[in-house]
Amino acid sequence: MQKTFTILKPDTVKAGKARAVLSEIEKAGFRIRAMKMLHLTEAQAQGFYYVHKERPFFGSLVTFMTEGPIVAMVLESDNAIEKLRKVMGATDPAKAENGTIRKQFGTNIERNAIHGSDGPETAAFEIGYFFNQLEIV
Ligand code: RTP
Ligand code: MG
Repeated sequence: MQKTFTILKPDTVKAGKARAVLSEIEKAGFRIRAMKMLHLTEAQAQGFYYVHKERPFFGSLVTFMTEGPIVAMVLESDNAIEKLRKVMGATDPAKAENGTIRKQFGTNIERNAIHGSDGPETAAFEIGYFFNQLEIV
């Protein structure tokens, strides 16, 4: 079993689609090991997406991620990291495969419904950024 980290982004929560996206996640076979709702500050969003700080879209991404509440989760399954990326679909919903979360719930390359860790080191960093050991069941 492997753990990964996901965020239901502000567009998903705002649209009242948190339950629908969570349902896709559970249908795909993930177990929820931790979950919390929070509204990120600018500094918290900047720290989370630190790897992208030099990218032209960084400022806009931080504004988006702080515009409303998010749901942060630790998920577990076989091959969880790769599997979640597949269930999410491509970064740009227009390029995502049919049936993926981003195809169904994303609006554009920025407002794309969900975040998922892209590798074991990122997953470990991201889980630790949001949850302490006692919050993971
Ligand atoms: P994520 O980290 O959120 O799971 O998304 P990802 O791996 O598929 O994409 P990444 O390259 O890590 O980008 C992080 C998030 O930044 C926004 N973005 N905007 N305007 C743009 O060209 C652009 N490119 C990326 C998206 O919200 C993307 O998920
Ligand atoms: Mg990424």
